[in-house]
Amino acid sequence: MGSGPKIIHVHQASADGVKQVCEQLIAGKVVALPTETVYGLAGNALDTSSVRQIFDIKMRPLIDPLIVHFHNLNQLSRIAYIPDQLEKIAEKFWPGPLTVILKKKEIVPDLVTAGRDSVGVRMPAHPVMRSVLQNSELLLAAPSANPFGYVSPTCAEHVVESLGTRLENVLDGGPCAIGLESTILELTDPIHPKILRLGPVSKQELEKALETSVEVSANILDSEKQQTGLVAPGTLSKHYSPKTPLTLKENGSLLALGSSKGRVATIHFQRPKSPSASDADETYWLSENGDEMEAAKNLFKLLREMDKKDFDCVIVEMAPKNPLGDTINDRLKRAAAKA
Ligand code: TXA
Ligand code: MG
Repeated sequence: MGSGPKIIHVHQASADGVKQVCEQLIAGKVVALPTETVYGLAGNALDTSSVRQIFDIKMRPLIDPLIVHFHNLNQLSRIAYIPDQLEKIAEKFWPGPLTVILKKKEIVPDLVTAGRDSVGVRMPAHPVMRSVLQNSELLLAAPSANPFGYVSPTCAEHVVESLGTRLENVLDGGPCAIGLESTILELTDPIHPKILRLGPVSKQELEKALETSVEVSANILDSEKQQTGLVAPGTLSKHYSPKTPLTLKENGSLLALGSSKGRVATIHFQRPKSPSASDADETYWLSENGDEMEAAKNLFKLLREMDKKDFDCVIVEMAPKNPLGDTINDRLKRAAAKA
């Protein structure tokens, strides 16, 4: 692949847009596509040259494996061994924001799985993504469509802003309904299911569906382990990071500026009742009335906005402790991590 700047085409999510994008994918190109979680940088998962382009465009280290997106369970059985337990969760959460790590079949290129004997798989729910999967009849490898280590994109403009000179095609399916990456459940040992990344599908929901307890990986914030390739690199502590330094505060606490210097913004979890609630230079909020779903949807957009405004520091109020709030806080902690 040449390294010169590319001209990006933003395709509308019409029948024609979907058709053009499918042609590109079938021809071995990489396209940014909408999903219900975040935008993905997709290519034919069974074509090594397409997969290599994904790593190049994203500047992602080859040790970090990709998720394969599929349209139906017949396709899934081509690439992975399906344990009995999968049926219980597939029925309940697919299509949707859950990635499952399964034992892989030979057909999956080593490049996709970074040489592991497992593969991450997800049946996405976004209707536009589903129609691309159905019409192209491809299995699509797709990481989040951001440069490695930066905040995930939740609309087509985000992709254009940060990858517009490295990529030729984006399909615009509007803003992502969820705005946080999928939950990752490791099921390679079906007796001991384990969450590798918190996400929109909660531990409690998974335990109920699987009728067994589900561990949350103790390494979830351990960047050392990640370096050795033992856990999902999305669990690296410094990940999803904006350039602006963030200071996190517990939910419900005052967002006092303290010793912060220079231009400071505050992000409240919900819209402050009084306009004078903060003495920051600018005040933002993740939700009008404290709704976690709304906050999740706005989080990455707001973090990207902060980077455009050149604040010296942004003080962020974390979400309340509940399953979706914990996922928001997980992403906030990674965004705030210094190393
Ligand atoms: O919501 C999502 O999951 C989005 C959309 C586009 O589907 N995708 C996404 O992909 O977040 P990515 O590559 O940004 O994050 C996937 C994470 C990575 O941290 C990767 O290391 C981990 O999944 N992963 C993939 N395959 C794995 C495997 N076989 N074993 C362990 N971790 C794996
Ligand atoms: Mg990612």
